Amino acid sequence: MAYNTIIVEVEDQIATVRLNRPDALNALNAELLSELAQAVAELEADARVRCTILTGSEKSFAAGADITEMADLNFVDVFSTDYLAADAEAIMRCRKPIIAAVSGYALGGGCELAMMCDFILASETAKFGQPEINLGVVAGLGGSQRLTRFVGKSKAMEMHLTGRFMDAEEAERSGLVSRVVPVKKLMEEAQAAARKIAEKSALATMVVKEAVNRSYETTLREGLLFERRAFHSLFATEDQTEGMTAFKEKREAQFRDK
Ligand code: CAA
Repeated sequence: MAYNTIIVEVEDQIATVRLNRPDALNALNAELLSELAQAVAELEADARVRCTILTGSEKSFAAGADITEMADLNFVDVFSTDYLAADAEAIMRCRKPIIAAVSGYALGGGCELAMMCDFILASETAKFGQPEINLGVVAGLGGSQRLTRFVGKSKAMEMHLTGRFMDAEEAERSGLVSRVVPVKKLMEEAQAAARKIAEKSALATMVVKEAVNRSYETTLREGLLFERRAFHSLFATEDQTEGMTAFKEKREAQFRDK
């Protein structure tokens, strides 16, 4: 499927979705978010794809929601359409792993989009921020909730209140990103991680997503029970037998997603 604002490629079980509005530093307008939601749904349904990498350009992952588009909207416009909600929900519904590979700006909705992914790999040039306060608004795609869970209240509050950006080194130290890599190696590293994931049982990777994400949404006791039951349920799969047999036989497991 051809898109106007994103480029989608599938190769060797890995999909790469590149945000592509270079003139606006990949600002997220309604068209881009809608195309992204559609692409994620298509990749979810595409049996060839086992992991997706979401990325932008070297200069900018995404500089936020599109301010030009938002500037003329009023409360009734955004409230009545639940502005940005449907597409964001669609992206979050994806059960296959999505890695955000972030270089340059990840601001406002861009930072929030990266945080919707399963983990963030950052290049040394990455800059994260929630500068909505400078526009007289607040985050609208989850930044006040997710950033706070990732980096803690004090740092999240400072970033939301002052609009200051966090560089890659601080983002790694604070737990926002999993790793920082040289800018020229960002895609290579993201692809290597995606290939590792693609080798696993797809059933188990879906359960990992459900279990880790559950930790943000429930009490420890409920989360531990969820994890234990998820662990138990995987003993109903052929992949569990294969994984453990392969270990005993000192060979690589050949998972069949069954
Ligand atoms: N929306 C629309 N256009 C944007 C944009 C955005 N979020 N960010 C950058 N652009 C456009 C600029 O208007 C400019 O376009 P023109 O060349 O046509 O003038 C082009 O991208 C290049 O930007 P700059 O010239 O500003 O580039 P710079 O290198 O000097 O600065 C920047 C880069 C610091 C990222 C700066 O562009 C900036 O501050 N952008 C806005 C960041 C922001 O406020 N994001 C939050 C948006 S609100 C939001 O996201 C709400 C939410 O939570 C859902």
